[in-house]
Amino acid sequence: MDVIAENVTQIWPGRHGDDVVALDSFSHRFASGRFSCLLGPSGCGKSTLVQIVGGLEQATSGAVRIVDPKRPDAMRPLGADSVMVWQHLNLFPWRSVVDNVAFGLEMQGVPKAQRHERARALVASVGLRGFENHLPGHLSGGMRQRVALARALILERPIMLMDEPFGALDAQTKIVMQEELLRIFDETKKTILFVTHAIEEAILLGDEVIVMTARPGRIKEVIKVDLPRPRSLEMVSSKAFGELFDRAFHLIREEVMTSMAQQAKALEEQ
Ligand SMILES: Nc1ncnc2c1ncn2[C@@H]1O[C@H](COP(=O)(O)OP(=O)(O)OP(=O)(O)O)[C@@H](O)[C@H]1O
Ligand SMILES: [Mg+2]
Repeated sequence: MDVIAENVTQIWPGRHGDDVVALDSFSHRFASGRFSCLLGPSGCGKSTLVQIVGGLEQATSGAVRIVDPKRPDAMRPLGADSVMVWQHLNLFPWRSVVDNVAFGLEMQGVPKAQRHERARALVASVGLRGFENHLPGHLSGGMRQRVALARALILERPIMLMDEPFGALDAQTKIVMQEELLRIFDETKKTILFVTHAIEEAILLGDEVIVMTARPGRIKEVIKVDLPRPRSLEMVSSKAFGELFDRAFHLIREEVMTSMAQQAKALEEQ
């Protein structure tokens, strides 16, 4: 499924009557089976875009369409083709791992035996065999993130929207989760929109890195990442990786400076 964003503009009502233009004419085709990373300074509208693509918010103007490239005339409603994974996991603390993972199927009315079978297979595939009956509160942060990933994967949606999913993890756990996600991507070839602040993460995971401007968020540049797949962490030390990193760093640095100046000005005006 391709996600086509056309001139998406989002204006949020401000606290003091001053509206915030979060996104300004954002247009991009997130192609089927492509891993797209969104990189941009804090407040540039990345989460806003993800929410609009996921159908949680309606854009002020512009449109997002979901299109099957094999059937370009058949459009689908927003939301039904995608699933979201956030930094804040929203797991049910009173439900076991397997019941958290099976939740989406339960909502669809899939019988218990069937949904548990599917959930157990996914729990095993994200490396949590043996923890099926544990409660989320008894797991580490990385393990909880795996549960959240399995819970999203069980829905088998073609589009996965990920808003800083590994942002709260420690450095080592993050590496393991990145590898896990790369493996899942190679197996399922979903369309992935992945928001991150980390340049290295964006290049390691993505087929393209969309660098956004400081607010209002526009596309500053799309960097194609032509590193071969399967990817591995060793690639980080390669010359090609270093060149991509330098390019992204140069672009993002300018925008972070602009964003910091904006924040300082807003504080002064308060
Ligand atoms: N529901 C909302 N109501 C009002 N303003 C909002 C809302 N959501 C976001 N904003 C504002 O829109 C702008 C963009 O926010 P958004 O959360 O999309 O940025 P972001 O790029 O995800 O930032 P971060 O990297 O810090 O997560 C910010 O100025 C934010 O305060
Ligand atoms: Mg955000």
